[in-house]
Amino acid sequence: MRLLERYIKEILNEEFRPDFKNRLVHALDQKSEEYNSKDEADKWYDMSDDFEKIAYGLGLRYIGGGASRRAYSTPDLDWVLKIAYNKDFYVWANKDEIDISQGEHSTGPRDIFVQTYSWDRVNDTPKWMIIEKVMTLGDASKELSIGDLAKVFPTFYDALEDCDLKRDPVLFCQYVSYVLTVISWNEEGPLSEEEFYEGLKEASMSRNVPQVKTIEEIRFGEDFRRLGRAYAFTRPYDMHDGNIGIRYNSFNSPQDIVILDYMLK
Ligand SMILES: Nc1ncnc2c1ncn2[C@@H]1O[C@H](COP(=O)(O)OP(=O)(O)OP(=O)(O)O)[C@@H](O)[C@H]1O
Ligand SMILES: [Mg+2]
Repeated sequence: MRLLERYIKEILNEEFRPDFKNRLVHALDQKSEEYNSKDEADKWYDMSDDFEKIAYGLGLRYIGGGASRRAYSTPDLDWVLKIAYNKDFYVWANKDEIDISQGEHSTGPRDIFVQTYSWDRVNDTPKWMIIEKVMTLGDASKELSIGDLAKVFPTFYDALEDCDLKRDPVLFCQYVSYVLTVISWNEEGPLSEEEFYEGLKEASMSRNVPQVKTIEEIRFGEDFRRLGRAYAFTRPYDMHDGNIGIRYNSFNSPQDIVILDYMLK
């Protein structure tokens, strides 16, 4: 049902607003050119505000924000406009992610990063980008069942002994995010089962007791392999539950795991 609903929305969207994304890109580029021809002393924040006005003018709404970017979309769109708004913090976040999307940090990170459709080519440091919309892990912890989550993160689920983390979607998602954080802190390099297991143990700790099976009992599945490919050459930093996402498919496969905010170390 969810798929059919989504399909109908996409058709309607294409039907009535075929050039919507192009109009947005055009308006943002025009605004950048306007600013760049003026040479104002501090145009940074004004430009971000003007971009936001353009987004609002076209009907987009704020859907979430972090330390350096804000995201805009509408319920019927399958993409998100991300605008950089913090001049003092990680201003090249968009640039790093565009490079990742183009495979400049190898194919593993490219494949786990959200699809990237369009970006700012006018400003030296890209101020906006348009990317695939996904469900953040934070939202998934409130909206998905533990059964759905177990299909997306089978190794994480299978590794657990019978405990609260295995029953409560919020606790389970916190544990997933913590494992990804722990292994992000390690040195770059191929992700071994042993290293992943150490992360699972640390993240599942309850009263100083890990809630996982022995390594021999765990079936390492496609989620482990997908993350391993991404973590082999560069480790994403800051893996909180707003930076990890799940694709809006039927929530049944590790192929749906994405990183939507890929901070390089
Ligand atoms: N592709 C997307 N799909 C759905 N929501 C998104 C997407 N990209 C961003 N968001 C929303 O916008 C928020 C901010 O985006 P993002 O995490 O990229 O910004 P940031 O400023 O780099 O964040 P942080 O503070 O984690 O460094 C996300 O946490 C999420 O709520
Ligand atoms: Mg973020």
